Amino acid sequence: MPPMTDPILIDDLTLAYGTQRVLSGLSLRVPAGSITALLGGNGAGKSTTLSALLGFTRAQSGSIAVCGIDPAADPDGARRHIAYLPENVALYEHLSAVENADYLLALSGERQPRDAIVEGLAAAGLQEQAWDQRLGGFSKGMRQKVAIAVALLRRVPVLLLDEPTSGLDPRATADFNALLVQVRARGTAVLMVTHDLLSAADIADRIAFIEAGRVAHEASASGAERFDVRALHARFQAGGAKVAA
Ligand SMILES: Nc1ncnc2c1ncn2[C@@H]1O[C@H](COP(=O)(O)OP(=O)(O)OP(=O)(O)O)[C@@H](O)[C@H]1O
Ligand SMILES: [Mg+2]
Repeated sequence: MPPMTDPILIDDLTLAYGTQRVLSGLSLRVPAGSITALLGGNGAGKSTTLSALLGFTRAQSGSIAVCGIDPAADPDGARRHIAYLPENVALYEHLSAVENADYLLALSGERQPRDAIVEGLAAAGLQEQAWDQRLGGFSKGMRQKVAIAVALLRRVPVLLLDEPTSGLDPRATADFNALLVQVRARGTAVLMVTHDLLSAADIADRIAFIEAGRVAHEASASGAERFDVRALHARFQAGGAKVAA
């Protein structure tokens, strides 16, 4: 049965930290089975938008819903539907890949047997010889695979990512993007904050630019009709202004 509403719905959100207004009438929706890339300059409010969806930061006005739940009113309820990859993934250096996944799944009350965990790690592209190795020696790309494996194992309807491909080489980026395409095919609503225009142009269905605290520009692509990366680049360079307080 199709969902009644889009898994991510933000309408006319206004959010300030103290006297500094960061979001000013931001509206955004991400339908099930689609990828939206959220772009904007440093300090534009991209991570803040994710934080509001997770119920960590509260807006002053407007509405926000994750699978119909207001994260400000019921953060735990909203987070049950969300897998979140922060910019700096917190994993445990002294634990193996499998142990990290086991521990993180336990934290969200969703423990799974080892078979399922290694299947998830394999699906995320982590080589078998790394499954039981301590994370201490892992490259950034390998860590990102562990983190995305955990996110995928949770099989939740919403995936939030904060600059997931920053610091990944082009090959690792392409592998990661291919995973996101698989996640979309499952029906997940994916919201990816990124400065990576090429990745956005490659995999996103919709690209939204935050400027002056709101989505100032949106572009959609469907099927063979892809984004114009040069035009995106020009738009990206022009944008990025902070909203005046
Ligand atoms: N917890 C906080 N307390 C006070 N101000 C904050 C807090 N978090 C973010 N800000 C401010 O809000 C603005 C938006 O920050 P945010 O992290 O959302 O930007 P961003 O678009 O994710 O930027 P970047 O591309 O650099 O990651 C910035 O001016 C930042 O300094
Ligand atoms: Mg950020």
